[in-house]
Amino acid sequence: MDLAQGKIGIFDSGYGGLTVMRSIVDALPQYDYLYLGDNARAPYGNRSFDTVYQYTLECVNWLFDEGCDLVILACNTASAKALRQIQQVDLPKRGDHKRVLGVIRPTTEQVGSLTETGVVGVMGTEGTVKSGSYPIEIAKFFPAVVVEQEACPMWVYLVEHNQRRGEGADYFVKQHLDRIFSRNGKIDTLLLACTHYPLLRETIEKFLPKGVKLISQGGLVAERLVDYLGRHTEMEARLRRAGSRKFATTDDAPTFEIQASLFFGEPVHAEHVEIGHL
Ligand code: DGL
Repeated sequence: MDLAQGKIGIFDSGYGGLTVMRSIVDALPQYDYLYLGDNARAPYGNRSFDTVYQYTLECVNWLFDEGCDLVILACNTASAKALRQIQQVDLPKRGDHKRVLGVIRPTTEQVGSLTETGVVGVMGTEGTVKSGSYPIEIAKFFPAVVVEQEACPMWVYLVEHNQRRGEGADYFVKQHLDRIFSRNGKIDTLLLACTHYPLLRETIEKFLPKGVKLISQGGLVAERLVDYLGRHTEMEARLRRAGSRKFATTDDAPTFEIQASLFFGEPVHAEHVEIGHL
């Protein structure tokens, strides 16, 4: 039997995961990919632990049922609030070869090496910031690095509702940058720890203090996935290499197609899917 039938599933609450998928597909174009955006229930950032876990698990199970062997949670909120439970409780219950990876570990393994002042700023959703995942994980790899966090509750709305430029975007982007830099002027590396935020890059760069490095996660996650598949040959052997890309959304497919094509940088055809009880 040919085992190499599996896809790589990429999940986010909405459009943000497309920034990670872009980097992954560029690094590993040979595989088959299925993207799922839970746009109908986005944003996840201000939802409770239980809700984020429940929604994420439903989406992961859907991707598994659609033939994904490996699922990447291209969402920091889901990685912070649901990944551990899925890896430690739900996957062992299945007892099969399916695996789920997040975006926090691959980021925290690398981000501390980018700072010269030893101070990293982390912009994230309320859920990611409150979970403390970034300071805890960065301290494991770079104990001397100071982490300053800022929750930006409006930023995901700006992206999901196509308000990435203009007065509203300027106001909310500047507000949070001012806050974090006024708390710690030594930050020289600013991490966009929400996969939606790179879509605001142009506006963020307008208000970013000079000399500060702005870091998106896509490249960091792609680099670590290449390494993971090199080490996990049993998983790699299961992945089909037909270079297909499929997209699904829990919200309106035509709207998703327009936005996603823009963010992914090539035409996207999407299917509407029903997941959970809205
Ligand atoms: N893009 C996701 C993240 O990285 C989720 C944002 C949200 O739904 O609030 O955190």
